[in-house]
Amino acid sequence: MKRIAILGSTGSIGRSTLSVAESYPERFQIVTLAAGSNLDAAFSQASRWRPRVISMAAEADADALRARLKAVELRGIEVVHGSGGAVQVATHPEVDFVVSAIVGVAGLEATYEAVRAGKILGLANKECLVAAGELITAEARRQGKPLLPIDSEHNAIHQCLRGGQINEVERIWLTASGGPFLNTPQSEFDAITVEQALNHPTWKMGRRITIDSATLMNKGFEVIEACRLFQMPPAKVEVMVHPQSTIHSMVEFVDGSILAQFSVTDMRLPILYALTYPERIQSDMRFSVSDLRHLDFSPPDLKKFPCLRLAYEAVECGGAKTVALNAADEVAVAAFLEGKIGFGEIPVIIEEVLAAIGSGKLESIASVLEADAESRRYAQLRVDNRKKTISKIAGSRATSFA
Ligand SMILES: NC(=O)c1ccc[n+]([C@@H]2O[C@H](COP(=O)([O-])OP(=O)(O)OC[C@H]3O[C@@H](n4cnc5c(N)ncnc54)[C@H](OP(=O)(O)O)[C@@H]3O)[C@@H](O)[C@H]2O)c1
Repeated sequence: MKRIAILGSTGSIGRSTLSVAESYPERFQIVTLAAGSNLDAAFSQASRWRPRVISMAAEADADALRARLKAVELRGIEVVHGSGGAVQVATHPEVDFVVSAIVGVAGLEATYEAVRAGKILGLANKECLVAAGELITAEARRQGKPLLPIDSEHNAIHQCLRGGQINEVERIWLTASGGPFLNTPQSEFDAITVEQALNHPTWKMGRRITIDSATLMNKGFEVIEACRLFQMPPAKVEVMVHPQSTIHSMVEFVDGSILAQFSVTDMRLPILYALTYPERIQSDMRFSVSDLRHLDFSPPDLKKFPCLRLAYEAVECGGAKTVALNAADEVAVAAFLEGKIGFGEIPVIIEEVLAAIGSGKLESIASVLEADAESRRYAQLRVDNRKKTISKIAGSRATSFA
C-alpha cells in the first residue's frame, strides 16, 4: 500500500490523483491533503477520504472547515493552515509519496520539505523547479530518492530515458501543442480575451497553466524543468510544436535513435506512472494507434511568443533570473485574468522584470522566496504603472534592482 499526500488536492491534478487512487483502492491510501481556498471541495474530499491531516491556505478557511466537519461529527481529521500546514501535510510520518500540485511558488516550501523528509515526490508543480530546481534536485540526490515528473512531457522523457543512459542523450525534444493562438496573427494579440485564452485546444487544466500554455511560457518553464530534472544544458532541450499533442515528448540518442512516448491526453496516466514507478500496472486508458495517421511538427515562433525566448535566456543565466521569470509571470498572468493588462503585455512585463533583476546564485529556499517577493513587487509595480512604464521602457532597462 502506497501512502499518499496531495498538495493541491482540490485542483485539476489533485482531483485526477484522487481519481487514480479511487480506481486502485488496494494500492493507494490517501493520508493527508492540502487545499487552497475551495472550502466545499476540501470538505467533500475530507468526508470521502478521511485524511489524517488536511490543510487550507487561510486560517479562516481552516476554522470553517473544522466547524463543518464537527457539525457532521467527522472526528480524527486534524485541520491546519498556511504554508506551515502544507509542510505538515507533506512531511507527515505516515506518508511515503507526495504529489506536488499546488499552483505556483506557494507550493515551494512544502515540496522542498517533502524531499528533505525523504519522501518520494511526484512533481506536477513546475514552478518549484523553475524557482528552486537546483536546490530541490540536489536535496533529492542527497536523500537518494527519485523525483518523478507528472508533467506529461517530462513524464514522457522519463519513460524514454529508460531506453538509454543519460550520457547517451543527444537532445530532448519537448513537444508543444502551440496553444489556442498558434495560427493567430501577432497583430491580433492585444484583442485576445480571457475567455479565448482559457480555451486550450487539447488539455483541461487550471487557469494559470492554461494562460501559460497560450503564451508558450508553460513550454519555457518546461525547458527549465527538463534542464533541471535531467541535468541537461538548455542547448540540448529543443521545443517542437505538435498541435495534436499525441507525442508527449521524445529523446534523441547519440546513435541517432529517437524514442517517443504517446498515449491519451489524460493526466491520470502520468500520475499512475509516477505512483507505481518502477512498475507498470494495468489501466483502461487506451490510445487508438490509428489516430497516429496525422501528426504535424514545426519549430516554435519565438518572435510571436517571446515568453519562450525569455525562458531560454533566464535558464542560461540561472539563479535569481528563473525565480524572477516565474514571479513576474505569476503577477502578469493574474493581472491579465483580472482584465488589468492585455494578452500581449504579459511578455513585456516579464522582460522588464528580468532586465531589472540580477542573476545571483541562491543558496537556500529562504533566499529564493526573498528573490520571489522582490520580483513580484517589481512586477506589480509594472502592472500598476503600465501606461507610464511603456513610455519609460528604454530608461528603466538600465535600472538595477537586485
Ligand atoms: N493541470 C494539468 O494538466 C497540469 C499538467 C502539468 C503540470 N501541471 C502543474 O501542476 C500544478 C497544478 O496545476 P493545476 O492545473 O492542477 O492547477 P489548479 O487546478 O489551479 O489547482 C491548483 C491547486 O493549488 C491550490 N492552491 C493554490 N494556492 C494555494 C496556496 N496558497 N496554498 C495551498 N494550496 C493552494 C488550489 O487550491 P484551491 O482550488 O482550493 O484554491 C488547487 O488545489 C501547476 O504547477 C501546473 O503547472 C498541471
